[in-house]
Amino acid sequence: MPVYCITGTNRGLGLEFVRQLARSSDNTIIAGVRSLASTDLSDLRAAASPSTHILECDTGSLASIHAFAKAARLALGEDRKIDYLINNAAVNLASHQTSLNLGPDELQAQMAVNVIGPAKTLELFLDAGLLSQHVRVLNMTSGLASLHLTAQSPARKCAGYSITKAALNMLTLHQAADLRSHLPGAVVVLADPGWAKTRLGGEGAVMEPSDSVAGVLKVLHGLRPEDSGSFFSHSGDKIPW
Ligand SMILES: NC(=O)c1ccc[n+]([C@@H]2O[C@H](COP(=O)([O-])OP(=O)(O)OC[C@H]3O[C@@H](n4cnc5c(N)ncnc54)[C@H](OP(=O)(O)O)[C@@H]3O)[C@@H](O)[C@H]2O)c1
Repeated sequence: MPVYCITGTNRGLGLEFVRQLARSSDNTIIAGVRSLASTDLSDLRAAASPSTHILECDTGSLASIHAFAKAARLALGEDRKIDYLINNAAVNLASHQTSLNLGPDELQAQMAVNVIGPAKTLELFLDAGLLSQHVRVLNMTSGLASLHLTAQSPARKCAGYSITKAALNMLTLHQAADLRSHLPGAVVVLADPGWAKTRLGGEGAVMEPSDSVAGVLKVLHGLRPEDSGSFFSHSGDKIPW
């Protein structure tokens, strides 16, 4: 009876994770959404199973992540723990900006959601005793985070977003090492879902969200202890850093 926790689930790939996981009545799902009040939850409610708990989590707010951890504890009861944590919520703001005209406000907002959010979610869930001994943590990153691929590409896209996703990659390496002393069986990895047809994916995206998420879930379910700290594509290949 595995327990999954996913952030940013009202649309896009987060919604697709819930849709696919909710097909099995064995799965308990904690589905985080930025706001229970102002977010359109109709698609998520339609995708949810009876064992899906839709809880508020604005990953750009420490107070909200604290409240999320408490609400997750209440939803799961005293003993059940999270087996799979998918840090999915992210923003790509001001994609027209380049390194020569980065907006400090936009960059800080992206750091808050794309880096500090996944860092604090893991930290506060650990502190709350919510993570199982063999928890699998998957941080959703991007090919745009790869220094190697970016160095090879003549075009530079989405400067602020790619800078924060590169920071997320470094965070993940730290988490993989640091979590081991608390939960020796834990595995922390990165996955690039590919260029998928979502709001963030934008025009020109090539993959159906269903294919992207099916691939990422296959990666997640196949993780071995020695994979901790790896950077995977949705098809399970290793992406160069
Ligand atoms: N689609 C792609 O081609 C692609 C490629 C590479 C990587 N990725 C990564 O895959 C993940 C999912 O992307 P996507 O394509 O599904 O993006 P998306 O369609 O833009 O959806 C993003 C989700 O994150 C949520 N979110 C944003 N800010 C939040 C916050 N402060 N707190 C909580 N939730 C928040 C959004 O909620 P609201 O509706 O409330 O804004 C939405 O549910 C992201 O990590 C992204 O970087 C996507």
